[in-house]
Amino acid sequence: MTYVPVPQDDPYYFDEESALAPHRLRILKRIRCLRSHYVTESSLRDRLEELPTQFQQPTVRPWGAIAWSEVHPNQLMGIDTPTFCAVLLGAINTEAPIRDYTQSSRQYLERLYPAMAQYVGGEVDNAGNLLKVGLWEREEKRHTPALAKLYTLLSGQRPTIIPHKARPYRPAVDPRENLYRHGLHRVATEYGATCLYLWMMAHSTGALQTVLAELLIDEINHMTKFWGFGMWAYPDSSAWTMGKTMSRALWTKLRDRQTQGSLLHTLRRMMTELAWQQWSPTNRMTLLYTFDQVIKPLWRWNQTLTPAYLDSLFGPHQTGIHQDGA
Ligand SMILES: [Fe+2]
Ligand SMILES: [Fe+2]
Repeated sequence: MTYVPVPQDDPYYFDEESALAPHRLRILKRIRCLRSHYVTESSLRDRLEELPTQFQQPTVRPWGAIAWSEVHPNQLMGIDTPTFCAVLLGAINTEAPIRDYTQSSRQYLERLYPAMAQYVGGEVDNAGNLLKVGLWEREEKRHTPALAKLYTLLSGQRPTIIPHKARPYRPAVDPRENLYRHGLHRVATEYGATCLYLWMMAHSTGALQTVLAELLIDEINHMTKFWGFGMWAYPDSSAWTMGKTMSRALWTKLRDRQTQGSLLHTLRRMMTELAWQQWSPTNRMTLLYTFDQVIKPLWRWNQTLTPAYLDSLFGPHQTGIHQDGA
């Protein structure tokens, strides 16, 4: 494995000491620095507070200019090109098929929270034909092509995309509990994507890192909105209930996978998809470190999500008569 020195103009280049520090420490430092730049309490608050406006006037966040012609394997650091490309391919296959994901989420939401349903999955007519694409989908659908382009630029080959089959919507006796479990999966997936792209940024520089930053900002945005809205929609959900539901979802028996699937299964599938077996111990350790680094500001921000604050954003929440306040 060859390590490319960090260029002097890299915004995550720190000082002489870190440049000379062992490679692993440098990656950890880059993860901390990226996290403190991108995942801050104030940016999380800002992302959530714009959600009511996005209900009224959905506006796609524009991406900055990307110098695609400058993307080069020499912008990788601390990881070899084949492993990084295997991770890219896994991310491509996990991101697709976004249309199926958005439509199943819309169905879980539409009767309980129509404005949020529209944000994620747009509008459909009575026959189920899509009339308008949701904002979540419009922003997410940029990811697969961007990752595929990176894959081609780094490997010289087109990726063979094998998208997952998204689990279709399954009605349940208790739609509210059903949505809660579905929502946890969505938050977990956005959190996983946030950590993965931040970790990939820690292993890259230049134009390559710029592309990944756009994906990262999108994922943080969606994760924050889903999480915050969920806290408003489920004011009774404490860390305890969340933990209980999570652990139930983690250990869901095989037969129950027909409904929502287990989180453990999702996690395993995701890690296999990301070619985890191919990763070095350092790669594995630094990804776990990223998960830990990102959850900390999220928990701190979560403490600020009081019922009064959330009601000020989305309107008074009335259990049983669910309105979006939008
Ligand atoms: Fe994505
Ligand atoms: Fe996402």
